[in-house]
Amino acid sequence: MDIAGSVALVTGANRGLGRSLAAELVRRGARVYAGARNQGSIDLPGVTPVTLDITDPCSVSSALEAADDITILVNNAGISTGTSILNGDLDAVRREMETHFFGTLSVTRAAAPVIAPTAAAPSSTSSRPCRGWRRPDPARTARRSRRSGR
Ligand SMILES: NC(=O)c1ccc[n+]([C@@H]2O[C@H](COP(=O)([O-])OP(=O)(O)OC[C@H]3O[C@@H](n4cnc5c(N)ncnc54)[C@H](OP(=O)(O)O)[C@@H]3O)[C@@H](O)[C@H]2O)c1
Repeated sequence: MDIAGSVALVTGANRGLGRSLAAELVRRGARVYAGARNQGSIDLPGVTPVTLDITDPCSVSSALEAADDITILVNNAGISTGTSILNGDLDAVRREMETHFFGTLSVTRAAAPVIAPTAAAPSSTSSRPCRGWRRPDPARTARRSRRSGR
């Protein structure tokens, strides 16, 4: 995979592995959108900060509107409650599933039409209307597709 010249979105890029991955992508010549729940917590030079809570469908669609030219998605954001799924607190298990499963899926579904416009039809990430959400413009998507040769 060619990292140089690519455009990446890294979720949970404000700390931990996500911050390191974003830094490495920049070092290798990618343009990087650094997603974080609190945009102010991103201190990495050379990235474009994007507000992104992966469990909030409106936040996901806004972030993908801002990062509408990505070629790579790094689904890094996650939590670790340490809860046992067999006998632990069910609310904590739900939080983990909302983050790791549905949150990651939500970002993937929103990013798919951007990364692979011909493979994934644009769709809303949620049945709830999001203020300011715009359906992706097919003409713009086609132009981007022609530019990237996909
Ligand atoms: N480190 C390991 O040994 C290990 C092992 C297996 C899997 N992993 C997975 O690898 C990923 C990174 O691990 P890490 O050790 O770097 O974790 P970390 O230091 O706890 O960082 C987690 C990152 O995810 C963000 N995040 C959590 N919930 C989010 C949400 N709803 N929306 C957006 N961002 C959210 C956090 O943002 P805030 O700052 O806002 O909390 C933080 O930036 C995680 O998914 C973790 O489960 C890690």
